[in-house]
Amino acid sequence: MKIPNPTFWGFSSSSANILLLVFVVMNLPQNVSAGRFDGNETDRIALLEFKNQISSDPKGVLNSWNHSHHHCQWQGIRCDARHQMVIALNLPGASLSGSISPRTGNHSFLKFIHLEENQFHGGIPQEVGRLFRLRFLNLPNNTMNGEMPVNVSQCSKLRVISLNWNKLEGKNPSELGSLKKLEILYVGANNLTGKIPSTFGNLSSINALSFTFNNLKGNPPEEISFLTSLIFLAMGSNKLTGIARNHFSRKIPVSVTNCYNLEVIDLGNKKLEGGVPYDLRHLLNLRILSLQRNLLGGNSTKDWDFSYTFDKLQI
Ligand SMILES: *[C@@H]1O[C@H](CO)[C@@H](O)[C@H](O)[C@H]1NC(C)=O
Ligand SMILES: *[C@@H]1O[C@H](CO)[C@@H](O)[C@H](O)[C@H]1NC(C)=O
Ligand SMILES: *[C@@H]1O[C@H](CO)[C@@H](O)[C@H](O)[C@H]1NC(C)=O
Ligand SMILES: *[C@@H]1O[C@H](CO)[C@@H](O)[C@H](O)[C@H]1NC(C)=O
Ligand SMILES: *[C@@H]1O[C@H](CO)[C@@H](O)[C@H](O)[C@H]1NC(C)=O
Ligand SMILES: *[C@@H]1O[C@H](CO)[C@@H](O)[C@H](O)[C@H]1NC(C)=O
Ligand SMILES: *[C@@H]1O[C@H](CO)[C@@H](O)[C@H](O)[C@H]1NC(C)=O
Ligand SMILES: *[C@@H]1O[C@H](CO)[C@@H](O)[C@H](O)[C@H]1NC(C)=O
Repeated sequence: MKIPNPTFWGFSSSSANILLLVFVVMNLPQNVSAGRFDGNETDRIALLEFKNQISSDPKGVLNSWNHSHHHCQWQGIRCDARHQMVIALNLPGASLSGSISPRTGNHSFLKFIHLEENQFHGGIPQEVGRLFRLRFLNLPNNTMNGEMPVNVSQCSKLRVISLNWNKLEGKNPSELGSLKKLEILYVGANNLTGKIPSTFGNLSSINALSFTFNNLKGNPPEEISFLTSLIFLAMGSNKLTGIARNHFSRKIPVSVTNCYNLEVIDLGNKKLEGGVPYDLRHLLNLRILSLQRNLLGGNSTKDWDFSYTFDKLQI
């Protein structure tokens, strides 16, 4: 890996003035700065701005983010060998507090954001939508608030969105349904409202979906039945109702029974009632079924007969 001489940056001696100059120039309109900076310099500016938005770093993980080293050597940063462009921002469990700089959207080669288990707050900047190479957006166990950024739906290579255990509000953006490569979507343990969008039936690569512990309402969309690659589905602890074939019946989403790869279903704490659909026996891989605190199966013990067709089913 080619790491250029740090003096290339002019930061080795009177770094402060040069840094100031760089910031001033970067804040000029784009047509002025265009052509004058390489992508790798844009990376460096964006990282310095990321650090600038950190209010507390008790473990000193960002101490290495100084001018004596190329930014590709800073802790938590990974660059690709060929272009020397930042491809990963890996700072999990670093006890960092602060907000996420919108300039993070300037890392045009970024594939991995791993910032789980910190105390990041504020919104997820819409600029993240400019990271068209992004694969992983991992921000669980922070205190992020605001709404889920719609523009993330433009990151067409995304495979994992993990935002559970935050304080996100508002609706699940229906636009996320366009993420054809998305395998994992975890938005549990937030304060999300509204319905689960029917467009999520377009998430053709999805393996795991978790919406638990939110304030979601309404019926889960029938389109969930399109998700035949689904293995893990958790919708419990919301205010969801069962699928309404008519407005008066609230039944377990029968459509789930088409997702024949399902291994884990959590529908606990929902206002479901009626019989347990015998069709669940088609889910041959089912290992865990949580239907706690519903009114299901109260009619007859026969409702649960299907469960004997499974070897290791936990209910
Ligand atoms: C930045 O990238 C340009 C070409 O894109 C390259 O010539 C230069 O050496 C790189 N500088 C650093 C510090 O990586
Ligand atoms: C700058 O970073 C290097 C590691 O990359 C570290 O050894 C050094 O102590 C840092 N300097 C300051 C002033 O924090
Ligand atoms: C970097 O991001 C900022 C804020 O999002 C933007 O104003 C600026 O034009 C971007 N710079 C480059 C070189 O992309
Ligand atoms: C979000 O996406 C829209 C539509 O592509 C675009 O116009 C807007 O500039 C994006 N916002 C940011 C902050 O990148
Ligand atoms: C996130 O927080 C929850 C609740 O405090 C905890 O159960 C879970 O293990 C945490 N996850 C990670 C990855 O630390
Ligand atoms: C969740 O959002 C509602 C408004 O939509 C608000 O009244 C409530 O206090 C929020 N709950 C938490 C735990 O933030
Ligand atoms: C996504 O799903 C919605 C609702 O199910 C549907 O109307 C739409 O055509 C789908 N879009 C794509 C791109 O598949
Ligand atoms: C209970 O069982 C009876 C007779 O089998 C049936 O008519 C009725 O619809 C069932 N009720 C529910 C809530 O499943």
